[in-house]
Order: sequence, then structure tokens, then C-alpha cells
Amino acid sequence: MTDTVKIFDTTLRDGEQSPGCSMNLEEKLRVAAQLESLGVDIIEAGFAIASEGDFEAVSQVAKQCESATVASLARAATADIERAWAAVKHAKFPRIHTFIATSPLHMRVKLNKTPEEVLAAIEHSVSLAASLCPDVEWSAEDATRSDPDFLCRAVEVAIKSGARTINLPDTVGYATPETYGAMFRDVLNRVPNADQAIFSTHCHNDLGLAVANTLAAVMAGARQVESTINGIGERAGNAAIEEIVMALKVRHDVMPFRTNAVTTEITRASRLISGITGFQVQPNKAIVGANAFAHESGIHQDGMIKDASTYEIMTPESVGLNASNLVMGKHSGRAAFRQKLEELGFRLGDNEFQDAFVRFKALADAKKAVYDEDIIALVDDEVLRGHDVIQVKEVEVYCGSNGPQRAILTLEVDGKETTVTSKGNGPVDALFNAIRMIVPHDQSVLERYEVHAVTGGTDAQAEVSVLLSEDGRTVRGRGAHYDTMVASARAYVNALNKLMVKRGKSNLNEASAG
Ligand code: KIV
Ligand code: ZN
Repeated sequence: MTDTVKIFDTTLRDGEQSPGCSMNLEEKLRVAAQLESLGVDIIEAGFAIASEGDFEAVSQVAKQCESATVASLARAATADIERAWAAVKHAKFPRIHTFIATSPLHMRVKLNKTPEEVLAAIEHSVSLAASLCPDVEWSAEDATRSDPDFLCRAVEVAIKSGARTINLPDTVGYATPETYGAMFRDVLNRVPNADQAIFSTHCHNDLGLAVANTLAAVMAGARQVESTINGIGERAGNAAIEEIVMALKVRHDVMPFRTNAVTTEITRASRLISGITGFQVQPNKAIVGANAFAHESGIHQDGMIKDASTYEIMTPESVGLNASNLVMGKHSGRAAFRQKLEELGFRLGDNEFQDAFVRFKALADAKKAVYDEDIIALVDDEVLRGHDVIQVKEVEVYCGSNGPQRAILTLEVDGKETTVTSKGNGPVDALFNAIRMIVPHDQSVLERYEVHAVTGGTDAQAEVSVLLSEDGRTVRGRGAHYDTMVASARAYVNALNKLMVKRGKSNLNEASAG
């Protein structure tokens, strides 16, 4: 058995499926490019049948990727599988990933099928997928709550029908490392044709065990791990790629496996995802949290000065974290800015570059020091709203202890500018009321409003994140600016644009896959 563990990234599918994490086409293409730089082996680009937008995203990612396999998810249904193939067939290395639930609860309540009917569906769906695509993965949804005998039968049928990767997900995050590892050992030992497939893990983090379970399955024989950047995903999320990859690297002594991941790309990938989704990583998050390499106590600092290995089991550089250095300022020109963007992993078109440069100059004039984090926030903000139908043009806010606070706002909607004045209980309320006056959306609820300073200092850029919900759909918008009110307007309007895209998406509740 090989010692290489393949990395299957599902940030664009399972990650994107979580509330507030939806991404537009441009964002997905940027994420896919970064995932290739990170060296992931397989990118699950979406669920092609879920909507026109998902189909387009999977197709475009398939066309763009040069080294990674590109997969689309599909239920065990002819239309799903044909749609998945239509989207991934553009890829150099296409994969159809089809699934059906195998636990008694899911088969009875969700599918309303007998176990025999589920076996027939596996045979039909996998055979169809294999007749279209040379690379087929099959998943037993809710594998960890399935009857072990039935699970073995299902896996055997899937392999016989042409699946070459078998994924056994812990869909509800119920497993423990012992039980999850034991399930893999059991299936690998008992299924007669198990040697014809690679076994894969897919763990959700409901009990905080997703990474531990993943590693236990690798120890038991799995050679593909499904995971997401920053662990984003349904409910408590999926297993985090960066944690799995670094655990395998740092503890190679007890887990003698390798991956193709380029670990120095981890920080960039993490920042890209938190920038796009607005999901900030908790400061004490392993590997990519702001404090992951910070040493506060005197004893630790003393040890670090003498020898970093006293308190660091891996170097910050090994995950692509270089100390934030001041390199850009108001005298930096286009060439330096372009070089900086390349260093930070941005590939901008001419118009985007021009817009970003104008904003960089304005920022450099307003702020004493421009750090890498500032440039990342600024460019993310600029690129994110390129195709937004609603754009923020001007913001003026009057605030202070003598209310009522007022906002004068100009938005461009479909190319037409409108200006309104509104009042509110505080400047943010006044501003958001103004947005509501121009673009009425009474059914939407503002679930959350968060402000985060990109760097230290009172002149730091504000990064604002807004969560809007409507009819069970949740979207997250973000905006960055050195004026917190401008950042707030941009974040709210970004969310509104995403909501409009979501309204256009077909509702696939019954298709939702954890
Ligand atoms: O969690 C899960 O079971 C899934 C499958 C569709 C792979 O996401
Ligand atoms: Zn899942």
C-alpha cells in the first residue's frame, strides 16, 4: 500500500454549502487557483445539478485546473450524474463523485428506500458514472451510523460497478478516532474487492474530532482525506486541511505518510478563504490562527530567543507565515505594487489592477503604514465586487452624542445612481436604512454585523462582515476600508448582491449533502 495520502479539497462544495459561505464564480476560480498552488490532488468544485451557477462554476474550474483532478458531486440519479459529467468533462482529470445514504435512519426517513433498493441504486448510479467518466468516487453518506454488514455489501457493489475511490463519511460528526479507524479496518478486511479502490475519509467536526478521526482512518488504511481550508463546512465544519497536512508532516515519526501539499501555501489559502467568506479564523486556531505562533509569557519568550524549537514544533515559515513587514508606502509605484501582488498570490486583470492601485494610493495617503494584510484586504475587497450589480458610490455619515445620526448614501444599481438621506439609531443603522430605501428588501434579516481591524493602530483598515438571511438562505458580505462606515456599506451591499444571486438559485433542499 502506498504511503501517499491524497488531499481531496471540498472547500468549494461542502465548505461553500455552509451558511454565509457562498462564493461567486470569480471567487471560486481564485480559490481553485490557490488550491492548485497548495498542491491538493482533487478539487470538488461543486454540485453541478444544484443550480446554473454551480454548474457554471464546476465547468469553469474544470477548464482552469492544470494539475488537480476536478470533481462534481451527484446524487444517485441519472440526471445528477449526467449533469456532473457535463460540467467536469472539460477537466484534464475529471471525476464524478456520486453518493447515497446507507444508514437505516437515512434510508428510511430521507430516501424512503429499502436496503435492497439502495444497493440497486448504487449499482445503477456508479455504472452510469463509470460509463461516462474514467474516475468515479462513491460515498456512503452517514457511513458511521450504517450497519457494518450492509456497509460492506454496499461498498462491494460500488467497486464492482466501477468506483475506484470509496469514501466513508462521518456525515454527522458522530465517530471517535477508535470507532472511525475500526470501521475502515473492518471494511478493508471484509470487502473482497477492497484492493481495487482507494479508501477516503470525510469527517465533520460536530464533536471537535474531525481531524483526529481523519488521521485515525489514515492509520487504518485510508489514502484520501476530504477536507476544507480553515475547516469551513456544514454546522461545525469539516476536517481542516492545514491541520491534517501539518500533523502528517510534523508527526511523520508516528504517522509515516506523505502528501503532495506545498505547506508554504497554507497561510495564503487560509487568508484567501477568510477574506472571501468573511469567516475570520479564531485567534487560537491551530496552524492558521493569529496566535498560532505567538509567544506571550516571559518564560516562553526566553526559550524562543535561545532556541525556537523549545516552544515551536514547526516554523511559521513552513506554513507560509512570514513576519508582517512594512514594504509599501505612498511612494511605491505601479511596478512595486504589481510585484507585491504577485508575492501575495494575486493575479489581477488590467482593469482590476488599475482599480486596486488607485485604492492602494488612497490608502497609503490615509495610513502611515501599509502592511501585507492591508493589501490583501484591499484587493480582496476590490476583486470581490467586480461584477456586483449594486455598487457603493458615496457615503457620508453624521454621528456623535447628539442624534439622530444621519447618512447620505449614493448607490449605483444596474448602472443608475440614486442618492438618499436617512436617519437611524446610530450611524450604522442610518447607513443600512439608506441602503434599504434604495434597494427595498423587507424580507431579509440582518443576522450579524462584525468589525475587525486588519492591523494594529488607530488608522487600521476596518474589515466588516455582514450576515443577511432571507427565506432560509444566508449570505455573508464583506467590505474593507480605512473608514469603518464605508467598509460597512460595502459589506452590506456585497451581501445584498450575493442574496440576489442566491434568489436565482434553485432550491435543492432534498439534495442537500452534508
Ligand atoms: O458529509 C457527507 O456525507 C458528504 C457526502 C455527500 C460526501 O458531504
Ligand atoms: Zn460532508
